[in-house]
Amino acid sequence: MTATTTLSVNGQAVSASVEPRTHLADFLRESLNLTATHIGCEHGVCGACTLFVEGRPVRSCLTFAVSCGGADVRTIEGLQDDPVMARLRAAFTAHHALQCGYCTPGMLATAYDIVTRLPGADEARIREELAGNLCRCTGYAGIVEAIRDVLAQGPHAHEFAQLARTAPSGAKAPALAAVAAPESSLPQQSASADEEIVGGVTLSRSVTVQASQERLWSIISDPMTVAKCFPGAKVDSVSPEGLVAGSFTVTIGAVSARFAGRGKVAFDGVAKSGMVSGMGDDGASRSRAQGKVAFSTAAEGADASLLVVDITYKIIGPLAQFARARLIAEIVDRLLKLFANNVQLLAEGKDVSIETGGFGLSMLLGAMVAALRRALFRE
Ligand code: FES
Ligand code: FES
Repeated sequence: MTATTTLSVNGQAVSASVEPRTHLADFLRESLNLTATHIGCEHGVCGACTLFVEGRPVRSCLTFAVSCGGADVRTIEGLQDDPVMARLRAAFTAHHALQCGYCTPGMLATAYDIVTRLPGADEARIREELAGNLCRCTGYAGIVEAIRDVLAQGPHAHEFAQLARTAPSGAKAPALAAVAAPESSLPQQSASADEEIVGGVTLSRSVTVQASQERLWSIISDPMTVAKCFPGAKVDSVSPEGLVAGSFTVTIGAVSARFAGRGKVAFDGVAKSGMVSGMGDDGASRSRAQGKVAFSTAAEGADASLLVVDITYKIIGPLAQFARARLIAEIVDRLLKLFANNVQLLAEGKDVSIETGGFGLSMLLGAMVAALRRALFRE
């Protein structure tokens, strides 16, 4: 199965048919012959594949090409005439900041981000920012010196980031504008339960709750109660037609996103099943999440029941680099475990907010960081 994606690469509109599993680095190298983006670990560890999506550095080996629809992608080739990159190239040469050159495209991308975002960065901060880029040759001293040299020539304008805020000719302007817009102006979109999630990933999970099917259904058929059981979820309103407004906050290490948006919920009281679908934007990270959750219940004797959940999701924008299936699966597993614990407490007549101190957001975040580490180093 392939999906057609349209994006801007180095200012040029590109439309191509790609498999959902194709990551951006492979797409650029294999389909567009843009081989300056190097691939080292393909696990998000070495930083060799670092490039810019919407003006921000991302790991292109962790970013699905289909998730970049409407986005501005900038590779080292696209910065050939950029004055800041010209200063960095000269400084890398002057300070012997490369040897074999394998890490260099990723190093230059990160260095560009440092000198344009952190004009006052000292050596310690530069080394901290470079922690995600590995070099086997230079010992880093020349790279750090080159960046300090360019910083001393500053301040430096991030010119193509400005370009990224206007739609390039031929690109999907509405999507790009929506991704790049500040939070207050992001469009409020309502998704229908029937809306197709093109290029989405589906997970199926089930969890047993020690409560009758009737009791479980009485809990999960109330959107407000469901939100109370999910750390990070907040429901602001539910209309009689099932339209829901709210937000979902996810934090992975230093990355935190609050997806605010609208959705739709539909219940089948006879089958004791339902569907939630929606779409939300995180203005800070300029990312968008689209998801659909189908859930059903089944009795497992008089006092136990099974909750079956099918989740289809898609993340667009810079946060898509964290959307690898294994990592999301680990996060979903942990969320479901927390959710089941909370539902269990409610089924026992206890108060979630009081009884779940140990299952609060901080514990979830720690689990997410652990999941991220495992996903990065085990795959
Ligand atoms: S190839 Fe992407 S981080 Fe190593
Ligand atoms: S110059 Fe060889 S890996 Fe960095």
